[in-house]
Amino acid sequence: MLENLLERNRIWSRSRQNEEPGYFSRLASHQAPEFFWIGCSDSRVPANVVAGLDPGEVFVHRNVANVVHSSDLNLLSALEFAVESLKVREIIVCGHYGCGGVKAATEDLPHGLADHWLEPIRRQARFHACELSQQDNIEIRRDKLAELNVIEGVGRVAETPIMRRAWRMGSDIRIYGLIYSLKDGLLRDLECTIRRSDMPVSKDQVS
Ligand code: CO
Repeated sequence: MLENLLERNRIWSRSRQNEEPGYFSRLASHQAPEFFWIGCSDSRVPANVVAGLDPGEVFVHRNVANVVHSSDLNLLSALEFAVESLKVREIIVCGHYGCGGVKAATEDLPHGLADHWLEPIRRQARFHACELSQQDNIEIRRDKLAELNVIEGVGRVAETPIMRRAWRMGSDIRIYGLIYSLKDGLLRDLECTIRRSDMPVSKDQVS
């Protein structure tokens, strides 16, 4: 298996180099992505591939069910680096329909550590129970919950001190919420974008 993977890597490297001589030395010198992507670890939703972006064009953080925990040092470190060093212009929180993590959050079965990780999604399910119960189809209900999880994630990113500091310093970074469909390969805008003007900063806030 591993040998097969390494062989595929050699073929890819050769063809990339042939298509664009100097490609790797150019990429090795620096990275200047415009996007920071927070997505699900699901193997079917690789950021670069589904967004049609080349290596170097998107800085990526992925976790199970693209949950934004306000105390996740992994995510926060990546976010801080993306915003303050890479100076990305757009942040994308991307969920997907048919998400196994969202499904696990709606089940009454033990999933080990994942149950701790997925707690914000359970909370969303409780908070929107009335709205969600209007839909009989459980798959559609879960897909709606996947959308709510993205919208919540966008809000949580916006509330981080990292984003508030960036906006206070004059940055116009925007945070978008997208959802990906495994069935047609399309990304949809959930229209929950948060930009600087949506987050008024009080004048007496300490910088
Ligand atoms: Co998923």
